[in-house]
Order: sequence, then structure tokens, then C-alpha cells
Amino acid sequence: EVNKEETLYRPNFHFSPKANWMNDPNGMFYLNGKYHLYFQYYPDGNVWGPMHWGHAVSEDMVTWEEQPIALYPDDLGLIFSGSAVVDKNNTSGFGKDGIAPVVAIFTYHNMQGEKEGKIDFQTQAIAYSLDEGMTWTKYDKNPVISNPGIKDFRDPKVIWDDKSSKWIMALAAGNKIMFYSSINLKNWNFESEFGEFLGAHGGVWECPDLFPLKIDGSDTSKWVLIVSINPGGPNGGSATQYFVGDFDGNKFVLDEDFSNQLQKQNAVWLDYGKDNYAGVTWSNIPKSDGRKLFIGWMSNWDYAREVPTFKWRSTMTIPRELKLRKTEKEYYLQNLPVSELYKHASKSIKKDSLNVDGLNDIFRNENIDLSKLNLELKLNNLKEKIYTINFLNKSGDTLSLGLNNVDKAFFLDRRKSGKVDFSEKFAPKVSEVKTDAIHKELKVQILLDKTSIEVFYNDGEVVMTELFFPNEPMETFSITIHDDYVYLTNIKVQEFK
Ligand code: FRU
Repeated sequence: EVNKEETLYRPNFHFSPKANWMNDPNGMFYLNGKYHLYFQYYPDGNVWGPMHWGHAVSEDMVTWEEQPIALYPDDLGLIFSGSAVVDKNNTSGFGKDGIAPVVAIFTYHNMQGEKEGKIDFQTQAIAYSLDEGMTWTKYDKNPVISNPGIKDFRDPKVIWDDKSSKWIMALAAGNKIMFYSSINLKNWNFESEFGEFLGAHGGVWECPDLFPLKIDGSDTSKWVLIVSINPGGPNGGSATQYFVGDFDGNKFVLDEDFSNQLQKQNAVWLDYGKDNYAGVTWSNIPKSDGRKLFIGWMSNWDYAREVPTFKWRSTMTIPRELKLRKTEKEYYLQNLPVSELYKHASKSIKKDSLNVDGLNDIFRNENIDLSKLNLELKLNNLKEKIYTINFLNKSGDTLSLGLNNVDKAFFLDRRKSGKVDFSEKFAPKVSEVKTDAIHKELKVQILLDKTSIEVFYNDGEVVMTELFFPNEPMETFSITIHDDYVYLTNIKVQEFK
């Protein structure tokens, strides 16, 4: 059974722990050619339990090597989510013999306090590493931020702000974000709070991230504030929203155009699928690289504990490059797979154009393995019809996605994609994103990796990430348009190693 699970469900090019439970990505930083990824980890079971920080290292964010556990719970509590920074100037004083410390900033969750019915059981703490994140020493004066009387008070994300010459922390606090600043990562001052009456509030706010980002193609920088929320996502359960504004070292203020966007949409989402949660960005990416790199937990608290893998539970999304883009008056956080992924292609087929009518197995003769796939294509001359892309197997499992130009929506439908009834919340309905106009043409990019689909519409303008658990590998691919045909161009198919 375990072998069958490995063959059928172990992802090919996404990170999953060898065994046991994983949730949020934590403390990601880059140093000396290596990308570090820590994660919420319970080493003794395949459901959520007392949290540790697991660890994995990669040179390209695609091939990962799991490392020994980085942080263990102790008397102060379990190790909840947080971030890590490379303290180049040794502001913390943890450095030694010229080695700059890596400092992790995380939440202690005190179970005893929680049991006793207290509300102040979450505090913020730090630990440092002098061997590039392999081993850690907890600060002996933890916690560094005590609890002001807020029950959900967690997930510190820290960056160095050049302008104010301070460390800035974004922290989730119930239904808002609190900002703190520090000059040494040990003493923190409260600066301001944001968001109580803005964006989606169907659940508690978690795992924020705050950073400046240039509007692509301009010289203007804005600040992006990412906020995960559970529940209350656009298609149910956990999801990640964001805000665009300005930050002056003290306050985050919404950009005016973004504020108008919010009035129309209520919330703006980084990913409209059900399985991209608690994602944050890497720190210490060299200026010469300059990318904003993001990874999310590819699951949803609605059913994460029930998905039908047993040896391990959970996978991360493909790492993504974030770019801030602006159409005439609207912002969007474009997210696309990191370019490193394509170096893993073992087969690549391109076609300039193709006419497809009815049900058509486009790659019938190409022998492409759909369980490690990148597929890109453009649909042209679209009318007021429904365009559906399907992945199918011999068991009759179907995974569909596409554009509904009648109801004006993108959709992703896993209702008949295989095992779905392990949870009522897994596939009760089709996931949708409403659009305000008919699309005359559409670019689609799809990553398929055994149990996950990541769909990037129009170069990452709208993204949908979801899990599925087929009874056997997907085998055929088709496009259906009722009573019509579609003209495809820019077709690219890649199979990964
Ligand atoms: C988000 C979250 C965080 C918390 C962690 C606990 O998924 O609930 O807010 O720190 O998971 O594992």
C-alpha cells in the first residue's frame, strides 16, 4: 500500500516531506547558493500535532533535500510559523568570529496556557544559527514580544527596511495585522495596525508578509501586504489575499487605486484555487537576482488532515516569482512558476497552431506523461461559449478547467477527479473566478504533478491551485467546446524528469 501511494501520489517536482505531517512554509532564506525552506512539521504522525520546524535545502527550489529537524518545542511552547533573516551587520549581536547570524523569528504556542483557558498563550521568540541554518540556538531571554491579550497573535514575518533602517515585523493578530520595528531583532516597538475593516474577514488572519515591489515596467515601488485567511477564501476554506499600498516605517496605507479595487471586489486573492495557503516570500535574495520568490502550502484546513495520503501529508506549491503589475487602474500580483523549473524538462514539444473540434486527444501520439507536465497554449477567436480542458484516465476520473464565456468565469472542477469523498468540503462544487468581460483570447499554463494542478491564466494574472487524487494516473488530455472548434496557438508541452 505504501509503495502504491508513493507511485501514485508522491509528487515529482513539488516538495513533500518523506514522512508525516507538514503545513505552512516557514523561515525561507537564501544564502551562498542555497534556498532554505523550513516548514510546520509534526514528526510523530500524519495529522497536525505539536509543531516543529522541519527543514529542506535546494539549489534551484525544485529538487529538495530534507534535513534534520531545525527547531523543537520546549517549555515555552510549540514552534509555530515565522520567518528568518540573514543579519549581515550583526545587529543582533549573535554573530561570532565574523560570521553573520541567521535569525529565525517564530511564534511560541503554549499549550498549557491554552488548556487553562488563558488568551495570552502565543508569544514571539527568536533563535539564531551560525552554520547557515543547519543548527539553531534559541535566545535565552525569549519571548521577545509578550502577548498583549490577543488570542490569535502569531506568524511574525520580518524584513530589513532600508529607508527607516529598522527591522520591520508584520504579525497576524486576530482580524488585523500589527507592525513592529526593531534595531536588533530583540527589542520590538509596536508601530501600528492595519486591516480590521478591509479585505476579507470570513476567518482569522494568519501568516502575513510585507515587502516593497516595483510596479513592473515602471520605476515606482509599492508595498505589498499578503494576508492568509482561514476560513473565508473565495472558493471555501483557507486562502491568501493581498493589499497594495505604501509603508513609511510606521504605517501601511492603502493605495488609492487599490482601495477602489477593494470596493468592487471586497478582497483580492493571490490564488483563487482551494489549495494555496500560508504562502510567504524568501528573504536575502541577492540584489543581482532581484526576484520576489514565494511558496505556499498546497492544502486547505478544510480537509488537510483527511487527504488520502498516509505516509506523508501535504506538499508545497511550485515556487513562484511574484511581480506587481498594473493595468490601467487595477493592480494584480502576477505569479508564475520560477524559471528554474524548466531546466527539469526532459521532453519539450512545440506546435505553432492547431484546430481542435469536439473531443480530441491532442497528444495521443506524443507519449507524454501527464503526471509531470507543463502545458501552455493560447485559445483564439473565442465566442460566448464554454471552453473546457480535460484530463482523464481509464477509471473515468476527470479533472476539468477552463473559461466559461457565458457566465463569465474561470473554473476548475475536481468533483469527479478520483477520490473526493474523504471530506465533504473537498469538492462540493466547481471552483470559480468571475471576470467582468468576455475573453476573446486566453493564455493558459498548467502544471500537473500527480495530485496537484496549478493553472496560470493570462501569464499569471489569475491563478488557481488545487489538489486531486485520481484512482490511477491521468492519461489523456482533451479540449471540448460544445458544437464548435477552437483555434490554438503557442502550444508547448513539457514533461519533467
Ligand atoms: C496557518 C497556521 C499558523 C500557525 C500554524 C500552526 O496554517 O494556523 O497561523 O502558526 O498554522 O501550525
